[in-house]
Amino acid sequence: MKKNFMFIDLFAGIGGFHQAMEQLGGKCVFASEIDKYAIETYFKNYGINANCNIRDIDEKKIPRHDVLCAGFPCQTFSKAGKQLGFQDETKGTLFFEIERILKYHKTKYIILENVRNLVSHDNKRTWSTIYSHLKKLGYRLTKEPIIISPHQLGIPQLRERVVILGIYDPENRDKDLTIQLPKLLTKEENNIYSILEQENISEKYHISAYEEMVLNAWDEFYKGIKETVIGFPIWAVYFNKFTPLEDFPKWKSDFVFKNIKLYLNNREFIDQWLKKYNNLEAFSPTHKKMEWQAGESITSLWDGIIQFRPSGIRIKKPTCFPALVAMVQIPVIGKYKRRLTVREAARLQSFPDTFIPNANDQQAYKQFGNAVNVEVIKLMAEKLFNEVE
Ligand SMILES: C[S@@+](CC[C@H](N)C(=O)[O-])C[C@H]1O[C@@H](n2cnc3c(N)ncnc32)[C@H](O)[C@@H]1O
Repeated sequence: MKKNFMFIDLFAGIGGFHQAMEQLGGKCVFASEIDKYAIETYFKNYGINANCNIRDIDEKKIPRHDVLCAGFPCQTFSKAGKQLGFQDETKGTLFFEIERILKYHKTKYIILENVRNLVSHDNKRTWSTIYSHLKKLGYRLTKEPIIISPHQLGIPQLRERVVILGIYDPENRDKDLTIQLPKLLTKEENNIYSILEQENISEKYHISAYEEMVLNAWDEFYKGIKETVIGFPIWAVYFNKFTPLEDFPKWKSDFVFKNIKLYLNNREFIDQWLKKYNNLEAFSPTHKKMEWQAGESITSLWDGIIQFRPSGIRIKKPTCFPALVAMVQIPVIGKYKRRLTVREAARLQSFPDTFIPNANDQQAYKQFGNAVNVEVIKLMAEKLFNEVE
């Protein structure tokens, strides 16, 4: 597509689509967002006031544009339709807002993004509703939505998302769009160190002395037991609980039995370990649990990615970070005994280092967790635009 094309950024967040489109030569002519902190970050970076609820916008007032971008919230159409008593099954959902704009503008290209679950959501009805409604409007689409993750492009984050691409072409709407993807990488072809900052890391990202003590204890534990691959969560409180179990579901009592077996196989070591750490009395309940998910790829927890989760301390291989998601604990890089920085979170979403994150770290992590990966969208857009040339 020619440079200087126009795009609109719906459900704009902090502008993952904006970054991608601008890098391809596009100019944003309209953006819509309702979260006050995201609006703030958007304005700081692009000088555009995105503050408007898309439901309140008259489509005729939206400027003409070549590309419509939207990472819209996923909702169940049939339910929303029924609840609101509408004939049209998409009315009342946010997809309807996109449909309404497309109906009027007949936008040439569309790029929509959503969670992986959209494909199977509501017994596949969500996808088939989107597909049939876009077709009806005159769009050529890929038969299935594209499922892609940044790690497949060498950005070390596992984040499978669905991308829907469409071209306005009513005469050929029944001809499926075909998109040829380049060679995609595996998880193992990634490594987390490729996006890490090396210098001037603020102290605030470092783990606390308590966290370090807990992790050292679990490191000793892993090194001290005979097993290297542990296929179940370690629950220290159950090691020597030989009394009949409470009314546990089967999966839970199976795990408890495995913990008791592990304890019996390593009794001498574990007794010493428990004694050294005073029966883990100073450990919070979730820190008495550990999930080793790194197989034999590493021999020390300090070489992995560490997550403090409600289900326990999880250790993963240092190949890819788990998906950044809004509101979830920030992963720790074992080797550096610190959490992922805000800048690193930005890099995991392929935002350039010139991007100004929200001044509040919690908001900044949340916003990157909600964003689309810029490189993923850039690749998708290039493929879509080339389809026509
Ligand atoms: C998944 S996020 C999209 C993030 C964005 N693609 C990015 O790269 O940052 C969805 C966004 O839609 C916004 N949103 C939800 N309902 C909206 C509405 N009615 N009008 C405008 N924005 C809305 C939310 O506040 C949220 O930031």
